[in-house]
Amino acid sequence: MEQRDQPIGVFDSGLGGISVLRACVSLLPRENFLFFGDSANAPYGEKSLEQVRQLTMAAVDRLLAQHVKAVVIACNTATSAAIGLLRQAHPNLPIIGIEPAVKPAAQAQGSSSVIVMATPLTIREDKYQKLAATFCHEADVISLPCKGLAEMVESGIFSGPALDTYLQELLLPFRYCNVDYIVLGCTHYPFVRQAIARNFGRPVSIIDGSDGTARQLRRQLELTGLLTTRTGPGTVIFQNSRSDKLSMSQMLFQMAY
Ligand code: DGL
Repeated sequence: MEQRDQPIGVFDSGLGGISVLRACVSLLPRENFLFFGDSANAPYGEKSLEQVRQLTMAAVDRLLAQHVKAVVIACNTATSAAIGLLRQAHPNLPIIGIEPAVKPAAQAQGSSSVIVMATPLTIREDKYQKLAATFCHEADVISLPCKGLAEMVESGIFSGPALDTYLQELLLPFRYCNVDYIVLGCTHYPFVRQAIARNFGRPVSIIDGSDGTARQLRRQLELTGLLTTRTGPGTVIFQNSRSDKLSMSQMLFQMAY
C-alpha cells in the first residue's frame, strides 16, 4: 500500500482521545484511522512523568508496528510529558500533539478570565506552565487540576449525582467570579461537557482543543504529501489494552455531547 493510504494512528491513555478522533474523522473523512486507548494503564494524569513517558513511547511503537503514516497524541498529559522525546525518536514521522486551548480562550473578544481544567500531571508540567504564562497578560488564567475526573469518564460516568457532587465541589470557588471561558484541557472532559456547564451554574463558554488538533493534522499531512488519494469514506478501527472497553469506544464515538 502507498504510504499516503496507510492509516493515521490516534493514541490516548484511555477513551478520552475519541473526542479528538471524532474531530479528525469529520475533517478528514477519507482517511483510515487506528485508535489505540491504553485503558489498562489509565489514568496517566496521576502517574509519574517517567511512567507516562514510557507508556507513551510504547503506545507509539505499537501503532508504528501497524504501519501508521502519522500519529496524533490525543492526550494532553502524554503530549506534555513525551512529545519532545517522541519527535527525537521518530524524526521522520508526523506527530501531532494536543495542548489545552488556552490561546483561543484568552484571546477571545472580551475574555478576561479563563479556567483551565486538566489532569494534575498536565498542570505540573513545564509545557503547560509556559503556555499559561504566555497568555496571562491577556486574561487571568486559572489552572484547575481535576484529580479523578478522567477516571470517572473512563468508567462510564457521564452524568448523575456522584459526578454532580464532584463538579460542584471543584467549581464552587469560582461561582461568583467573572469567568468567561472554561478550557477542557484533558480529552476525556468533552464527554462530561454538559455536566460541567450545568454544575458551573452560570453561563460560560466551554472549549476544547480537538478541532485545532484536527486542523494541525491536516496541515501536517498536506505539508508532507501524505493526504490519502482515496475517494471513498475511510475506516475507523478501535484497539484498547482492555478488551472490555471496545464496545464503549464505539459508543463514545457516536455519543452526542
Ligand atoms: N485524556 C488525557 C488527557 O488529555 C488524560 C487522562 C488520564 O489521566 O489518563 O490529558
